[in-house]
Amino acid sequence: MTIINIVLDTPSGEHKSAPLYRQIADAIEQHIASGTLSAGQKLPTHRALADQLKVTVGTITRAYAEVEQRELVEARVGAGTFVCQQNAPSWVYNYSPQEEEACNLGHNIPPHLDRSAMLKQAMGNLSHQPDQLNQMMLYHDPQGLEEHRQIVASWLQKKGLEIDPQRMHFTSGGQHAAHLLLSAFCRQGDTLLVEQVTYPGFLSLARQQQINVKPVEVDHEGIIPASLDAACRQFQPRMLYCTPTLQNPTTATMGEQRRREVIEVCRQHQVLLIEDDVNGLLPEQRPTPMLNLAPEQVIHIGGLSKCLAPGLRLGYIQVPQKLQQRLNTALHNHSLMISPLLTGLACEMLRNGDADRVLQQIHRDINARQQLVTQHLGKFAIQHTPDSFHVWLTLPEYWRLSDFVSAAEQQGVIIKSAEMFSPPGATIPPAVRLAISAPFSHHKLEQGLLILAELLEKDPMNDFPL
Ligand SMILES: Cc1ncc(COP(=O)(O)O)c(C=O)c1O
Repeated sequence: MTIINIVLDTPSGEHKSAPLYRQIADAIEQHIASGTLSAGQKLPTHRALADQLKVTVGTITRAYAEVEQRELVEARVGAGTFVCQQNAPSWVYNYSPQEEEACNLGHNIPPHLDRSAMLKQAMGNLSHQPDQLNQMMLYHDPQGLEEHRQIVASWLQKKGLEIDPQRMHFTSGGQHAAHLLLSAFCRQGDTLLVEQVTYPGFLSLARQQQINVKPVEVDHEGIIPASLDAACRQFQPRMLYCTPTLQNPTTATMGEQRRREVIEVCRQHQVLLIEDDVNGLLPEQRPTPMLNLAPEQVIHIGGLSKCLAPGLRLGYIQVPQKLQQRLNTALHNHSLMISPLLTGLACEMLRNGDADRVLQQIHRDINARQQLVTQHLGKFAIQHTPDSFHVWLTLPEYWRLSDFVSAAEQQGVIIKSAEMFSPPGATIPPAVRLAISAPFSHHKLEQGLLILAELLEKDPMNDFPL
């Protein structure tokens, strides 16, 4: 049971204290502000708190009504009084005022966490290392400082990725890594294969560089090897781009057997395989990375955006030995190198255990959010896992895709249509992506899920007058 420590003023002499109920309400407000009482926590029953503070039950009832009026707690009939999620601080995401109002399930971002203390700590540690600081102020090889590569690689190795500190390059995030690949290894007019629905950032890059993109059919595990084989025969692509772990948008994860089969088809057709592993650190049990299975055939890209902080802009890439020099030149041409200062800060966080703690927090938070999804949308056609930032929802046949997206938006829930994830010419599945990690609070997410559940229940045709 929650115990709240409240010391009440006793009026003495001339001094008149605030009414008891207000003192109690103020104390509860302070507990919430300081974090002693956190969102979702249940307050003691009226009777228990009255006994504890030696006041009447009526005083507690007034105090709780007061904090409810301040929108700090909510009373749920038959269940008790619970602390509400507070509004998002301004730094959560650069939302427009309309987005702030809405339940925004549009952005595939890590859940809100206060990382300021961790950043302060990392900056403090670095500030005591003048030699390192001076070194970080210089030009370096495009690959990045060797000491930083050692730290990042050994952290990733502990998580099962066989990345080689002598071969890896740092990048400014996964998106930058993908950009480098296309500029280093593809030419205008080349053809690439992608999953039938895929990360829009990659589609946009390919469009900009005038590279043709062809879809390959997927099932619940991702790329279907036979369809890949057929597409390789038909299009003679240069590369296959895929996200084998927690695919964006479908959340599909390839098992090890499927990974081996996909690698084998690529090997037969001499197609380079890009493994986009930006979500690879999110599952508690990560499947064997494709890089481990075929390091001379796989281009591996990943980063710390989803598991630590996107603002650090730290990504990495490892290519087969024979492509190493071309990648080095591409990075040099693009930006000479990645900021050693940001890389140094990230290394501090990996070294002192903060990165692992953040990952644990993300796990816990996403698990709880996915449970809300199961609770409210479990009976609909959803694809999700306990560790994915998003959910892939196939609509009932009575809903047209665009109608559903606008109906949700009209009710203040922003979601992304399958259209956004579909390469040109692909058949667009009747599905939407819900980025459940994006809303600031679980409460906000739940409001959005309830609205979606209600919409999904209703056949829009029944709303039309005959
Ligand atoms: C599949 C995929 N790849 C790459 C990225 C880019 O991530 P980063 O922030 O590391 O550039 C994203 C971002 O959402 C993504 O979903």
